[in-house]
Amino acid sequence: MFDLSPAHLAGATLDCCAGGASFAAETAGALAMDPAYAMGIAEMDRLVRAGLHDGDQMILDNQDRFEWSWYGSIEQRGAIRMAAAEAFLTDLRARPRRYVAAALPDLPLAAKSVDLALCSHLLFTWANRLDEHWHRRAIEELVRVARREVRIFPLVLQGTAEPVEFLDRLRSALPASEIREVPYRFQRGARHMLVVDASGLTGSGSPPAHG
Ligand SMILES: C[S@@+](CC[C@H](N)C(=O)[O-])C[C@H]1O[C@@H](n2cnc3c(N)ncnc32)[C@H](O)[C@@H]1O
Repeated sequence: MFDLSPAHLAGATLDCCAGGASFAAETAGALAMDPAYAMGIAEMDRLVRAGLHDGDQMILDNQDRFEWSWYGSIEQRGAIRMAAAEAFLTDLRARPRRYVAAALPDLPLAAKSVDLALCSHLLFTWANRLDEHWHRRAIEELVRVARREVRIFPLVLQGTAEPVEFLDRLRSALPASEIREVPYRFQRGARHMLVVDASGLTGSGSPPAHG
């Protein structure tokens, strides 16, 4: 999804909003943040399993919104998602300290405490609910905690895949940002990520607390 190289994965990485994704379970130096983790392990288990079923149903109800060159078929995607959910839930039980209940735009992390910050399917995806000001603060926060790079995917609204009208305005405040095509294909129209070079930027000034 983020077109990451082994070099990216060798450093400290933050996945926020991680949800039930298996990235932290599969990546040595990764930390996962999501407000849902405050619910505890049993409720996360229930939610993640329910989400698999609801996700499949939503896809079946809206088949014209998806393309299958990446996953192959709904069955193959289902198997991949199931394996990822099991990996996540196993790791959540084994290493709960890697899963921190926290929400953008205020993360309990020291400035420049990870190399790379990743965010998938929150920013821009929900731009019909989260406004431009919130997005600006969330990106500043990701830049604050990242030493090297912030990557955000996708850059279109969920469902309709419409472009987000304030994306260009947000980018104009980010001198070192680039829109880059990714190899991942699923939601039609969702083919690009925002890459921000965080190395020369300080981001927002929230006080450090964790890490
Ligand atoms: C659609 S899921 C995406 C999960 C994962 N990144 C993926 O791509 O599969 C959105 C996630 O955002 C989390 N979330 C909601 N508000 C958030 C916030 N303010 N900061 C961080 N995560 C948030 C939700 O709990 C949920 O797990």
